[in-house]
Amino acid sequence: MEEKNDVRAREAGGQHVHDYFGRTSVDRGHFHTFTGSTNVQTVVAGGHAHEYANVTRVAENHVHRMSGISSVQMPVMLGHVHRLQGTTTVDDNHSHTYDVYTGLPRAPRNVRRGRFFGPFSAKAEGAEAPKEPRPRRRLRAKKAEADEKP
Ligand SMILES: [Fe+2]
Ligand SMILES: [Fe+2]
Repeated sequence: MEEKNDVRAREAGGQHVHDYFGRTSVDRGHFHTFTGSTNVQTVVAGGHAHEYANVTRVAENHVHRMSGISSVQMPVMLGHVHRLQGTTTVDDNHSHTYDVYTGLPRAPRNVRRGRFFGPFSAKAEGAEAPKEPRPRRRLRAKKAEADEKP
């Protein structure tokens, strides 16, 4: 059976990432918010997971770093999500815990996509591309014109 669902097809073949956001636990009377995007998936037992790393936003004049690997995928409507759980780095003599779910999968940026075979594509009609390279005229033509004028 053909994969009609785009998300499912992406999960099976191409690479994807997840965006996430949230806020840490309250420790020492403050918390930090954070946003980030995971890395593309890596194969693990039971499916795939994503590495992630980000810096929290500033609170009380300091930040913390968060990094780790997500849980395996959890199927939801329209795709799947991952759970990010862990503890931030220790900064200013304390750390925070966090526990969030990512968003749905999305295609990473700068993906090399398949070539478009539209109605105007030469390859789609089976015709061969012109062998001779396009003539290169740059400054010569302008120079000739300039010489002719006076
Ligand atoms: Fe994923
Ligand atoms: Fe903090």
